Amino acid sequence: MESTDDEVAALLDELDRAELVRLVHGALDPEGTATGYLPGVERLDVPPLRFVDGPLGVRIPDRRATAFPAPLALAASFDPSLARSQGAAMGREAAAHGQDVLLGPGTNLIRVPHGGRNFEYFSEDPVHSAAFAAAVVEGVQSEDVLACVKHYVANNQETDRATVDVRVGEQPLRELYLPAFRAAVDAGAGAVMSGYNSVNGTPMSEHGRLLGDVLKGEWGFEGFVVSDWFGTTDSVRSANGGLDVEMPGVTGEELASLMGMDEGGPDVDFDELGGGMPDMRTAARFETELAADVEAGDVSADRLADMAGRVLSQMASVGRLDGERPDGALDTDEHRALAERVAVRGTVLLANDGVLPLDDEADVAVVGPNVDEALLGGGGSSEVTPFVSSTPVEGVTERAGGEVTVAHGVEPVADLSFFEETEPPADADSSVEDAAAAAADADVAVVFVRDRATEAMDRPDLRLPGRQDELVSAVADANDRTVVVVNSSGPVELPWREDVAAVVENWYPGQAHGDAAAAVLYGDSDPGGRLPVSFAAESAYPTTASERFPGEDGVVEYSEGCRVGYRHFEASDDGAVYPFGHGESYASFAYRGAEQVDASTVRATVANTAERPGREVVQAYVRPADDANGDAPVRDLAGFQSVHLDAGEAVTVEVTLANDAFRRYEDGWQEREGPFVVELARSAGDVRATVPFERP
Ligand code: NOJ
Repeated sequence: MESTDDEVAALLDELDRAELVRLVHGALDPEGTATGYLPGVERLDVPPLRFVDGPLGVRIPDRRATAFPAPLALAASFDPSLARSQGAAMGREAAAHGQDVLLGPGTNLIRVPHGGRNFEYFSEDPVHSAAFAAAVVEGVQSEDVLACVKHYVANNQETDRATVDVRVGEQPLRELYLPAFRAAVDAGAGAVMSGYNSVNGTPMSEHGRLLGDVLKGEWGFEGFVVSDWFGTTDSVRSANGGLDVEMPGVTGEELASLMGMDEGGPDVDFDELGGGMPDMRTAARFETELAADVEAGDVSADRLADMAGRVLSQMASVGRLDGERPDGALDTDEHRALAERVAVRGTVLLANDGVLPLDDEADVAVVGPNVDEALLGGGGSSEVTPFVSSTPVEGVTERAGGEVTVAHGVEPVADLSFFEETEPPADADSSVEDAAAAAADADVAVVFVRDRATEAMDRPDLRLPGRQDELVSAVADANDRTVVVVNSSGPVELPWREDVAAVVENWYPGQAHGDAAAAVLYGDSDPGGRLPVSFAAESAYPTTASERFPGEDGVVEYSEGCRVGYRHFEASDDGAVYPFGHGESYASFAYRGAEQVDASTVRATVANTAERPGREVVQAYVRPADDANGDAPVRDLAGFQSVHLDAGEAVTVEVTLANDAFRRYEDGWQEREGPFVVELARSAGDVRATVPFERP
């Protein structure tokens, strides 16, 4: 049998220059379903390749798919096996829609709490992000669909995202921003999407050092690099810098007129689109220029063959060159159940004075301006339209044994899609007073509040939009058994948190919103989630200075170095309100017998000391034994393990520690000097056992 390499080499011999060029830039999909489309070469039986968004499920306008929880919610499960399952399910749905490449996972580190796409990403920690990025890639590709990890690299804000230049030192780049991409590559990701941003003066779509030397050289990436949509600026520099495929390969004007946006031409004012959008007028550089670039010797013929060869090899790896295409599966019972399971498992119990879990028979006031709609996700290219969904009112009503009353309280929060507000749900016809009265009459009040976030824009602040804070305070005044369920894209300020009985972070939970929230509120499932991002007052983040965010004169300085997330808060006087890794359980746990197993493993016996089942997430942080860490962060997450324990059960939990936690990037990777301690912890702020740790 012919090997893939031979098969690809034979094809490359046959393809003429025009055909090679056709394999490396997008075109319009005649079926109109793909986000990005390579037409293939019919003469040689190379089929088309369809790329589709995105990280929360398959997004095709006018088509439906399972709306999975946002990646941040998935990551809050601290259970990469769920990420693998969600990735596989998304792969099956992509295949069922006739697509070949899923544009996800997104794995930019959460650096700025305001980030408009934080919900699409995993974490403020590189080891944690890496575990989820790898698991999603494995899952998607297990279904013979290619995963495209994005947006490489340091694409951490939406403000001016198309043009911003990120000035970042080599150490934070290596220690924080690159590891999740590397993990995705090690997991076999078929494609990498370059970010819109520049890094240290060079656009990522033409970054010879980061695309060529690091990604393809040091890491041995054999897949192809695809530009973010309209994210190229120069054909020669891109091709020579390491970009393999330009997308969408057609101009925004062509796309707009195809979509009939205006009879006589596009009804889009491209100058008005703002810094969150790339220049969509000129994005067919490879189509119009690349052949001539090769002819002129500005791009070598070998390089063009390499670009096309990378695409062909990946097609071969999922059987497409042999005419194989998986059937996939769409909206199955299994996918519905998985969407709910992930939403449940990612839900974080931030605080609870004992009001939760709810009594089955309690009379409940369900309060909140948007309780009649499921929160499917944020705005932008990740929006999914599901077949089914459950709203907070539906979820609680179905589960409650007592009476349920509903009050909206304040004006609904309109979702954002790119820059546009979308129609909010039907009129919220109650006042704050009505909501407080409903709360006073019930045994318990559950208030659902939400933020809003979208691609192409960062959040203006960390407050809840509209008058939701006022609503929570009024309800809490009326009923001291008030529970607040927060649906947010990342950290939000919770100014009333001391005045309410419980706070639950339920993120953007997707189509199972109401059912998942009810399962946790009533204790059918233990809240298994932990925070993948620190929650703190807006003024306490390391990015409050404008040169760090949103930047000045188009430049953002990552001058906080490695002090991002908990690595910042632990060293600052102004600490986190809820630290990284935090989350309560309805059960309680004791740790004993913590010890080192080998050079990269620790273990401890964890006992559930409660009379109900629960889920514990054992987190392992590394720090130097003498506490003297110089300029480096106090502790680094090295591993974690989520475990379910029945009432009274004790199990031995082994945690594998990432090598990265034991090295620093200072003129190349350097092993850190021991001795170390490994802290087994419930969060970055709650250490339960300390293990002296030797590395050989
Ligand atoms: C731009 C976004 O940044 C990217 O994530 C997405 O996959 C493409 N648009 C295609 O929609």
